[in-house]
Amino acid sequence: MRSKTKQKMAKKEAKKLEYFTDWKYAPSPEATDHIRLQKQYELFINGKFVKPNSGKYFDTINPATEEKISSIAEANDKDVDTAVKAARGAYDKTWSKMPAKERAKYIYRIARLIQERARELSVIETMDGGKSIRESRDIDVPLAANHFFYYAGWADKLEYAFPNRHPKSLGVAGQVIPWNFPLLMAAWKIAPALATGNTVVLKPAETTSLTALKLAEIIQESGLPDGVVNIITGHGPVGASMVNHKDINKIAFTGSTNVGKWIQKAIAGTDKKLTLELGGKAANIIFEDAPINQAVEGIVNGIFFNQGHVCCAGSRLFVQESVADEVIRKLKDRLETLIVGDPLDKNTDIGAINSKMQLNKINEYLKIGVNDGAEMYQSSCSIPKKGFFVRPTLFLNTSQSHRISQEEIFGPVLAVQTFRTIEEVIEKANNIPYGLSAGVWTDKGSRIFNMTSKLRAGVVWANTYNKFDPTSPFGGYKESGFGREGGLHGLMPYLKF
Ligand code: NAI
Ligand code: MG
Repeated sequence: MRSKTKQKMAKKEAKKLEYFTDWKYAPSPEATDHIRLQKQYELFINGKFVKPNSGKYFDTINPATEEKISSIAEANDKDVDTAVKAARGAYDKTWSKMPAKERAKYIYRIARLIQERARELSVIETMDGGKSIRESRDIDVPLAANHFFYYAGWADKLEYAFPNRHPKSLGVAGQVIPWNFPLLMAAWKIAPALATGNTVVLKPAETTSLTALKLAEIIQESGLPDGVVNIITGHGPVGASMVNHKDINKIAFTGSTNVGKWIQKAIAGTDKKLTLELGGKAANIIFEDAPINQAVEGIVNGIFFNQGHVCCAGSRLFVQESVADEVIRKLKDRLETLIVGDPLDKNTDIGAINSKMQLNKINEYLKIGVNDGAEMYQSSCSIPKKGFFVRPTLFLNTSQSHRISQEEIFGPVLAVQTFRTIEEVIEKANNIPYGLSAGVWTDKGSRIFNMTSKLRAGVVWANTYNKFDPTSPFGGYKESGFGREGGLHGLMPYLKF
C-alpha cells in the first residue's frame, strides 16, 4: 500500500516536471530595425575611415544564420605602418601634451556615447558574434561603458595612484583582441591606455569586427584628436605585423595561449612591454555545506551562458562526494530548461557558437571525451538546423588525465569530477597548465580564505561566478598569461616609472 502511494507520488512528480520542461516561451526577438550598418567597412586611421592598401575585404557573418552581414577591410603591413605613424604623430603632437584632466573628458564622453547607443551596440554584438542578446545587453555593453567611466576618473590622478613614483606614459600601444567579448575587450584595452596618456592601434578579431568599428564611429563623434585611437581590421597576420612593428612600445594581447607564446618569442630582446591574457580551465568547487541550488545556478552561469566562450569559464566542476548525486541531478534538470537558439531572442540562454572553426573544435572535443571513456550527458533540447549550435554537455566520471579535463574547449562543455578532502581538491584544481580563475562554494568563511590563498588562479570567486567590475583587477597565473587588466593594477602595464 505504502509503495503504491509512493509510486503515485512519483508519477505526479514526473508529470509536473514534464509540464515544466514542455512549457515553451513565446518568441521574443529583439528588434533589429533601429541599427545602422554599412555594407562595407574601412580601416579607421588618423580619425578617418580609409580604404585598405591591399584593396581586399572579407565577409563577416552572423553565426546564428550563416548569412553575410558586411564586408570588412583586410589591412596589410603598409596599413599597420600608417596606423602606427598616425598614433605616434598624435602622441607626440597632442595627446602627450594635453593636460590629464582634458584627456579624461574625452574618455568620459566615449563612455556616455556607448551608453547612448547601448541598444544598437548590443544588437550588433549579438548578430556578429552569436552571443545571447541578454548577455550583450546586460553584461558586455554596460561593462564596456563602465570601463571608460572608471578609467576616465584615473586620468588626472595617476600621481595619487602611484605616489612619489612619477608615472609616465609609454607611447604607442598595439592591442590585439579576441571574439568572445568584442566590445568589452576593446574597452578593457583602450580605456586604460588613454587614461595613462598613450595612443592606440587596435585590431579586433576577424569574426567580430563590427562593434569595434562602431566604437570607431563613437570615437570620431567624441572629437578625440585624430590618430589617438586607430582601429584596423583583418586576420592573424595583421596582429603579427603589429607585434613586429619597430615603433610600438607596448603590446596587449588577449586570445589563445599558442598565439600568446608566439608573441612573447617575437618580442624577446626588444624593449616592448607586454601583457598577455590567455586561456583558462577553471575549477568550480562545490563543498558539501554549499547552498546547493545557488551553486547549481553558479555552475550554469559559469560554463553554459555565453556558450562557454569565456576564458575564465568554470569548465571543470569538482563536487564533494557526499553531495555529488544531488548536485548532478539538479544540474541535469537545469540543463533541460536551458534555451538554446536564436541569440536575438530575449529568452535565449545559449546562443550560437562564434564560428564554424570553433564549432568543429568543440565537436572534436565531444568525440575525444567519449573515446577517452567519460560519460557524456546532453540536454535533450533541439538545436536550429542552420547556424552553429551545440547542446549544453556534461562529461561525468572524468579524471585528471582526460584531455577534456586538461585542455581549453571554449564551449558549453563541463567536465565533472568528485572529491573527498580539501587537500585532494586543491591539488587537482591546481594540477593544470592554466591559472586564470576558480570558484568556491561553501558556507564557511574560513574555508573560502584557505582556498583563495592556495588556489593558483588570478581570480577566485566565492559563492558566485563570472562577476566583473572595472575596479577589480583580472589576469592569470602560469599559461593563462601575465599582467593585470582592470582596477588600479590595470594602469601599470601602460606606465613607466
Ligand atoms: P587567436 O589567439 O588566434 O585569436 C585572437 C586574436 O589574435 C585575433 O584577433 C587574431 O586575429 C589574432 N591573432 C592570430 N594570430 C596572431 C599572431 N600570430 N599575432 C598576433 N595576433 C594574432 O584565437 P582563435 O584562433 O580565434 O581561437 C582559438 C582558441 O583560442 C579558442 O578555441 C580558445 O580556446 C582560445 N581563445 C581564448 C580566448 C581568451 O579570451 N583567453 C579568446 C579567444 C580564443
Ligand atoms: Mg561575425
